[in-house]
Amino acid sequence: MQEIQHVAVFDFGSQYTQLIVRRIRELGFLAKLYSPEDIAEIGQPGAIILSGGPKSTSERDAPDIDFEKLKSFEVPVLGVCYGMQLLNIKFGGSVKKSDRREYGAAALTPICHKDLYDEVSEDSQVWMSHSDTVQDLHEEAEVIATNQHGTPVSLRWPGGFFGIQFHPEVTHSHEGLRILKNFLQQAGELQRFHIEDFKREMIDGIRELVGEKQVVCGVSGGVDSTVLAVLLKEAGVNVRAIFVDNGLLRKDEATLVQNNFHRMGVEIETVDASDEFLGALAGKEDPEEKRRIIGNLFIKVFWDSVGNAEMLAQGTLYPDIIESASNAKSKASVIKTHHNRVPKILELQEQGKVLEPLAELFKDEVRELGAALDIAPDILGRHPFPGPGLAVRCPGAVDRERLNIIRECDAIFIGKLKQHGWYDRVWQAYAGLIPVKTVGVKGDERSYEWATNLRAVISEDAMTAEWVDLPAQLLRETSQEILNEVSGINRVLYDISTKPPASIEWE
Ligand code: XMP
Repeated sequence: MQEIQHVAVFDFGSQYTQLIVRRIRELGFLAKLYSPEDIAEIGQPGAIILSGGPKSTSERDAPDIDFEKLKSFEVPVLGVCYGMQLLNIKFGGSVKKSDRREYGAAALTPICHKDLYDEVSEDSQVWMSHSDTVQDLHEEAEVIATNQHGTPVSLRWPGGFFGIQFHPEVTHSHEGLRILKNFLQQAGELQRFHIEDFKREMIDGIRELVGEKQVVCGVSGGVDSTVLAVLLKEAGVNVRAIFVDNGLLRKDEATLVQNNFHRMGVEIETVDASDEFLGALAGKEDPEEKRRIIGNLFIKVFWDSVGNAEMLAQGTLYPDIIESASNAKSKASVIKTHHNRVPKILELQEQGKVLEPLAELFKDEVRELGAALDIAPDILGRHPFPGPGLAVRCPGAVDRERLNIIRECDAIFIGKLKQHGWYDRVWQAYAGLIPVKTVGVKGDERSYEWATNLRAVISEDAMTAEWVDLPAQLLRETSQEILNEVSGINRVLYDISTKPPASIEWE
């Protein structure tokens, strides 16, 4: 295979480092993250970026890099924030604490609109997050941009070295992507990055690591674990895929998941633990207690089925790693982290028995990889579904009757979304149960039944969500069908709450 000239990103500990990698890939180039100590092992990159970091260069244990080695690559180097300060020191300058706080938005004034600042506007908003500033510049260092106070925030040194004091990778830096693109253009012909290349690399890596060993992985029918299982199969790994039916799944889900995997040539082992889950949940109303019961039982059932695993594969993604490292913000990631980092797994990890091949990817890249693995669009386009399943769509206690009502309402709603061409236009949709009985009339008789809530949202990362303005006709048909066909429901409500302050699930 032809060696792809990648962009090497050295990580000095900034919470944004992975975003740099992501932006470079968005620009169509291969980026890889390295620790500065590994500089001797990175091959020949096409360009290099030194990330930001939380330390100050003056601290005793501040991270460093081998400057001679860095120069020896003879490729453009961009120092971001800490990276720029470090370069300034390497070029004989120094760094001092800034007189002003340099956090948040700042206005960037390029001194000339070429190189990094080609087509970048005057007073472009950039995002600062450091309080150190460069001084005693090398005689050949050139200030190429300042902030609104005239402080140098971008430098160029001889030999293709650039520095920027701000973070181009965050969206608050309005023209950050343009600046990164301009930097990469200094590298001349960088090879384009295609997910196909990445797929081949991952497969080679998996083969090397796994050999003849048997690998166990849990599958949920969701995109990440599906892509993981298919990737392992593509790599020719002897894989056992375990699917736990917790009794909280949507209508016909277990069969659908089985059929989907069968279509992809992966046979899964379904463990029907629904009695165990529903038994443990009986009468439990508190949302957190329900979650705890489900989480702990899942771990138990899964590990009981695994037996003695030679290796375990997990669908951990890049954001899962960052979020768990920086205090998980979303519930989904807390739960995922909870499952992915139980003591048993940590123990296996220490023995080198845990495989996380997707750990360098972002969610949308996993979908792209899935497409490159020929996974059907209907599988890749499935809405996210929470691990605790329908239990978080039924406030209060769950039982079979309530779950069946939710299943019927949800199947009707999702069917209507598909029929009207709206399923792929919303990020997540479902019908849940509001276990409050109200009076109605069905036929000629008085009814006293529950309500269902329909929810359809657009979101990027589940941290915020907007409700979707679905066509009235779609809602009308959904409501009519639910009221006609689902016994136990006499009201249909459409949830028009944004997150925040509401959440997506009702719990
Ligand atoms: P909320 O209700 O917090 O949900 O707005 C945000 C997103 O996370 C999903 N969700 C979960 N996913 N395990 C998961 O894998 C969970 O425990 C969990 N709880 C919520 C939810 O469906 C929505 O997409």
